[in-house]
Amino acid sequence: MENGIQIAIDGPAAAGKSTIAKITASKLGYTYIDTGAMYRALTYKALKEHIDVYDDDALSSLLDRIVIELLPTEEGQIVRVDGEDVTEEIRSQEVTSNVSATAAQPRVREMMVEKQRLLANTKGVVMDGRDIGTAVLPNAELKIFMTASVEERAARRFVENTKRGINRSMEELCQDIANRDKADTERIASPLKQASDAIFIDTTSMSIEQVADAIIHHAEKRKRP
Ligand code: DC
Repeated sequence: MENGIQIAIDGPAAAGKSTIAKITASKLGYTYIDTGAMYRALTYKALKEHIDVYDDDALSSLLDRIVIELLPTEEGQIVRVDGEDVTEEIRSQEVTSNVSATAAQPRVREMMVEKQRLLANTKGVVMDGRDIGTAVLPNAELKIFMTASVEERAARRFVENTKRGINRSMEELCQDIANRDKADTERIASPLKQASDAIFIDTTSMSIEQVADAIIHHAEKRKRP
């Protein structure tokens, strides 16, 4: 992918970032990297080992000794921790309600950013998260900040959960999302914030295809000659 670019997609929880990023990457023939899955994998392992999700030292030393792998397959991305397939487990309610704490720890973030930069060290990458355009890939050729109303995001998560057999009411989902938005935007270390040079997309009344097409359109204009 000689003329491939770096595309950073940020935005709040359940805004559809990973669905859109995956489609965009596949249409462009780029590598897709889901950075949220890395924070989730660390949280999963911390909970399993009874490590306090507010203890930066303990978490960063855990991160130092585990191997997190993101493997692209035909059916989607597989996430492994120390060889164990945790693709489903990292989406559990327990991990979801603890991951904002893990992701707020400064040393953990520093180490994750370093890992993510190495992963993006290839031409043609779509990376999604909260701080990609601001901290991980500040020189990305294309930055997108994507959001949708809390109600719309809860409705999308509801559909996703139903497929996974997770039972949570719309009311609970709205509350979960609002809590996560608050934790992600108010933390001290790299809070969720739109990069000054990011393109803002409100996806509330857009289809997945429409959003992916809009991003691809912007990407085509930025391709290296
Ligand atoms: O996108 P997600 O819901 O899988 O992300 C899980 C959590 O990780 C979310 O609460 C915010 C955090 N996160 C982060 O702080 N920075 C990133 N680059 C990606 C995710």
